[in-house]
Amino acid sequence: MRLLPALAFGTLMLPLAAYASDPNSYAQPDQVRVTHLDLDLKIDFPQRQLDGRATLKLEWKNPKAQSLVLDTRDLKIAKIEALGADGKATPLKYALAPRDKQLGSKLTIATPKHPAQVRIVYTTSPDASGLQWLTPAQTADKKLPFMFSQSESIHARSWVPLQDSPAIRFTYDAHVSAPKDVRVVMSAINDAKHPLNGDFTFDQPHPIPSYLLAIGAGDIAVKETGPRSAVYAEPSIVDKAAHEFEDTEKLIATTEQLYGPYAWGRYDILVLPPSFPYGGMENPNMTFATPTVLVGDKSLVSLVSHELAHSWSGNLVTSAAWRDIWLNEGFTTYVQGRITEAVYGKSLADEEALLSARALQKSIGAMPVNSQKLAPDPRGVGADDSLSDVAYDKGSWFLRTLELRFGREDFDAYLKGYFAHFAWHSISTEQMLDYMKPNLIEKYPGKMSWDEVKVWVYGEGIPKDAPLPDSPRFNTIDQERTDFLAGKLDADKLDAKGWNTQEWMYFLDRLPDVAPLDKLQQLDAAWHLTGTPNAEIGMRWYSHAIAGGDKAVWTAAAEHMTRIGRLYLTVPLYKAFVKTPDGLAYAEQVYAKAKAGYHPLTQQVVEELIDKAKKAK
Ligand code: BES
Ligand code: ZN
Repeated sequence: MRLLPALAFGTLMLPLAAYASDPNSYAQPDQVRVTHLDLDLKIDFPQRQLDGRATLKLEWKNPKAQSLVLDTRDLKIAKIEALGADGKATPLKYALAPRDKQLGSKLTIATPKHPAQVRIVYTTSPDASGLQWLTPAQTADKKLPFMFSQSESIHARSWVPLQDSPAIRFTYDAHVSAPKDVRVVMSAINDAKHPLNGDFTFDQPHPIPSYLLAIGAGDIAVKETGPRSAVYAEPSIVDKAAHEFEDTEKLIATTEQLYGPYAWGRYDILVLPPSFPYGGMENPNMTFATPTVLVGDKSLVSLVSHELAHSWSGNLVTSAAWRDIWLNEGFTTYVQGRITEAVYGKSLADEEALLSARALQKSIGAMPVNSQKLAPDPRGVGADDSLSDVAYDKGSWFLRTLELRFGREDFDAYLKGYFAHFAWHSISTEQMLDYMKPNLIEKYPGKMSWDEVKVWVYGEGIPKDAPLPDSPRFNTIDQERTDFLAGKLDADKLDAKGWNTQEWMYFLDRLPDVAPLDKLQQLDAAWHLTGTPNAEIGMRWYSHAIAGGDKAVWTAAAEHMTRIGRLYLTVPLYKAFVKTPDGLAYAEQVYAKAKAGYHPLTQQVVEELIDKAKKAK
């Protein structure tokens, strides 16, 4: 599981009534739609809260509508008023429903007169699921506090009351006040030269879905990486980040050549503290990124290719519901591969495609049938459940298959046309298919049947004839691994000196789930995996070492788990530990120390995992 290992198989069943539009939102877009958000926020670090005023511009759809229904989670509402065309404010009655664990609290505002604008005055909770607050001591430079948002999937509602569904798009502007010396950034054009005077304004003129609302604030320096790109990071890491991401302009220009102009103006990257729960998040104009990709050799820059690719697949053409998330992530993973191929070569692109395809082949069979489908039956999935490898890796595999069948030239033209056709819209899988049928499948007859398309999209598992790239380097590694495990090749005789990050990942990924302890110890003695500065390698190595019973790695694993809050890099180590009673006790100890530095989401995932393991005991 790439993103949310513990939640990926959730079995949340939503009531059928809620499932009519977006089962993960209370909003009623057939009644009324938010078209613009005007946000006024004060960042209160001591109280760990945002004091907010959200003014929503409304487009009434149903003349008989009586109310405006919004999504919220753990917001304290102070007052709500209607704003007339003349700017006059009148108080409105409202009801905040009890909190649903998944969806938060439905906010129903009585609006029989269909005001043009509604203003909500509120504060966020210190435990808001979409925000993390860090003390100065928890940052790299220890000078100022830090805070950042992570709104995808349904956490925007924990810091702004709104229609929190990807089907609904709005423009926004914002005014944010913060302590002096703090820099505030948002998912809009940012001004690198902005004075640190505690007073920031932003304007996002393009209609975006709520999950792309983002904010970050802290001791943030800026360094240019190109004519329309820069990195934002704490001062002590900004140079390292600028070096790692120095190819950003090349990546943007390459993607433009393939799929048309970059529509957003600037493309900046904010490097967050290591507690950021994901690898990257494609916030418009300002990708949020984990510092764990700063390994010095640019080997994990695919993360930038991925988040940048979302500027077309996801941010321009958006999945209308979480059930359709593969339209974002599968298309983006495909585009990511194309960028990697163009900028870093086919060998690396093929390695990355193979790594993910092999991992999916290994994992998909154990998933519930519905989760194996690109477009699952929405009744069986919650918002964060659709985030498995299926959306990414089966999705991109499908598009690579299409490319092979239709030929690169025609498929590229098709995809470019698809982005142009649906630009600035949120669409369902079925709308994508309605476009694909005449514009690809029927336009070039004899390449792929409609039945095959349906098997890819609605079928379980992976089609048997799904094509895989060939990687001679990976083939050699398979052979070396086999020989090593068979005792025919000593660990220090592995030809690993020249292995890149992906090749180490591949070697480790395909070791047996529980490898023999002596083999693991030989490997570590020869290649010093314990303490590796590369967390992708570290996550895989520690998982194996823990599973194989190598207690010598425990302290280093604990250090990794305490320092890094990125779910994908840390949760697998908890999973490995909780399999034995000793390990479980140790994992609890590690968590007790690490918890204060974790994002609310990481806390939730680790707590559920530990609880489950304790119950099973
Ligand atoms: N949009 C996702 C992150 C995400 C998805 C967050 C769903 C919450 C819910 C982002 O683009 C992503 O895929 N990140 C990956 C990057 C990797 C594929 C290079 C990640 O965080 O690991
Ligand atoms: Zn993505």
